[in-house]
Amino acid sequence: MTDTLTEDALAALIEQHRGRRGALLPLLHAVQATCGYIPDAAIAPIASALRISRAELEGVISFYADFRRSAPNAHRLRICRAESCRAMGSEALWQAAQSAPSDTDIEVVYCLGACAASPAAEYDGRLLCRLDAARIARLWQEDQP
Ligand code: FES
Repeated sequence: MTDTLTEDALAALIEQHRGRRGALLPLLHAVQATCGYIPDAAIAPIASALRISRAELEGVISFYADFRRSAPNAHRLRICRAESCRAMGSEALWQAAQSAPSDTDIEVVYCLGACAASPAAEYDGRLLCRLDAARIARLWQEDQP
């Protein structure tokens, strides 16, 4: 299946959640926590175990922005494009982020809970506040060996 999610590991996760009320989202989070995304090979076993259609399952996965359907890159930059950050210049951050190295996922998020320190973003899980385009560009340099 994947390097970190074997068929046995998926079966164990399914058994941990099967029969629980509202099992789908916790199970999807567990799968993603194990291998970083929801692999294609996990769709049929999850749908079957929870007695939902593959289309329903794909609908749930695509509805929630935090679920991934492909392996993540090495780095993840999430730029807030909600109202406060937009008013404080997040569009310039978004433009600056387009020059990110190819090993960086660039994603939109709608509010990181740091509105008072807009514009904000999250880089590899680290909250960055009062950002500007120049600081975005320096993120790539900080990661160089
Ligand atoms: S609007 Fe961007 S952190 Fe809240």
